[in-house]
Amino acid sequence: MTGDPAFWDATTSFRRLRERAPVQQAVLPGGLVAWLITGASQARQALADPRLALDMRRLPDPRMGFGGRRYPDDIFSAEGRHLLNSDGAEHHRLRTVLAPLLSRTAAQRWKPYITRTCAELLDRLDAAERPDLVADYARPLAIRVTTALLGIPEELQHRLTGLTRSMISAPDPDAPAVHRDRTALFGLWSRIIGHKRRSPADDLLTHLVLAHRQGRLSAQELVSVAWGLYSGGITPTTTLIVSGAVEIMRAPGLREMLRDDSDADRLTGELLRITSPFPVATWRFALQDIAFGDTVIPRGGVVLVALAAANRDPELFPDPGTVCPDRRAGQLAFGLGPHYCPGAPLARLQASLALSALINRFPALRLATAEAALPRQGVLVERCYERLPVRTGATRAEA
Ligand code: HEM
Repeated sequence: MTGDPAFWDATTSFRRLRERAPVQQAVLPGGLVAWLITGASQARQALADPRLALDMRRLPDPRMGFGGRRYPDDIFSAEGRHLLNSDGAEHHRLRTVLAPLLSRTAAQRWKPYITRTCAELLDRLDAAERPDLVADYARPLAIRVTTALLGIPEELQHRLTGLTRSMISAPDPDAPAVHRDRTALFGLWSRIIGHKRRSPADDLLTHLVLAHRQGRLSAQELVSVAWGLYSGGITPTTTLIVSGAVEIMRAPGLREMLRDDSDADRLTGELLRITSPFPVATWRFALQDIAFGDTVIPRGGVVLVALAAANRDPELFPDPGTVCPDRRAGQLAFGLGPHYCPGAPLARLQASLALSALINRFPALRLATAEAALPRQGVLVERCYERLPVRTGATRAEA
């Protein structure tokens, strides 16, 4: 599935499935049989339904869901509890610890840092011989913001980035090299947390360490939540900025919107819908038979909500392939219900500022390679352009 253009193009692969049925069984690469939800109203229903659990331990027989096999997101559950593998009161407790640090008000405090970092990275992009929007701009921005938010000590950042990337992009989660990286990664997190204990600061990790001291988080939850935050935020934010830039290059009329903060925020909302950086939400498991119209997902069924498909359902989004920032219906790129992305305000702010800074500095920005030839990478739950070579053209000042 990696890099397969048919999988990549939500307009074709998911559209075909959605037209067949909004809820259907599908055999995934690797042989897992899952229930795929592609209709927008069914996706909303599923994301809000507490009978669809994320905690695999609640399945009467765990083999019911995974047929005894491991799948990529299992790397989390192997290491303990975090938000995306917990439900109900346990999930609520973890969420309460985290929510105040990622609120809209908390996100706004990052605006000066993000603006400064964008300007610095744009200088680098401008100076690059072959400017690449992924490596020179979007990814370093997302990494720097996440690292600063959490308060990762500088000397450990490089190792953390490397191990995280190799874990996330590993095609086989059971390969011996992945086991080695996993052990190294969790050893590294222990060092990072030890560092925070000795040198507390005004950052998210220090706050989590404090919550652990107060008995609100176990030691294992502390590591899992921290890593979930680190690994969960960087790739989709990078994808949103990069794929969003591609949409803007395709439709130059959109560039004007990036001159005003509130227009840029509205445009970012629509870019979230059209790019859907997480094409599918986390696995869910039916605790009992659940009806979606005439289709019943049986108890024990594995459920995948295809956010990218729902976000292009013409019943909710007429002419779904067109970027149209004035739509009324709410998009699902950040999910919905109890697991709605708590990083949404920060991610949205980051993308909006990054795209505005980019286009306002290089109004004539264009792709340096034909769109079809752009290298892509991705597993089922995530996908991103590997590189996005661009020609920056004259800066606004030069023009
Ligand atoms: C454009 C960027 C982002 C997108 C598209 C995105 C998307 C999502 C989605 C769809 C979910 C729900 C998954 C589900 O219900 O199965 C989610 C959950 C989550 N996201 Fe994000 N996310 C983004 C950025 C971030 C950032 C920057 C952070 C942290 C700083 C973050 C932290 C989390 C966490 C901790 C959860 C789990 C919430 C829970 O289970 O209660 N995300 N995200």
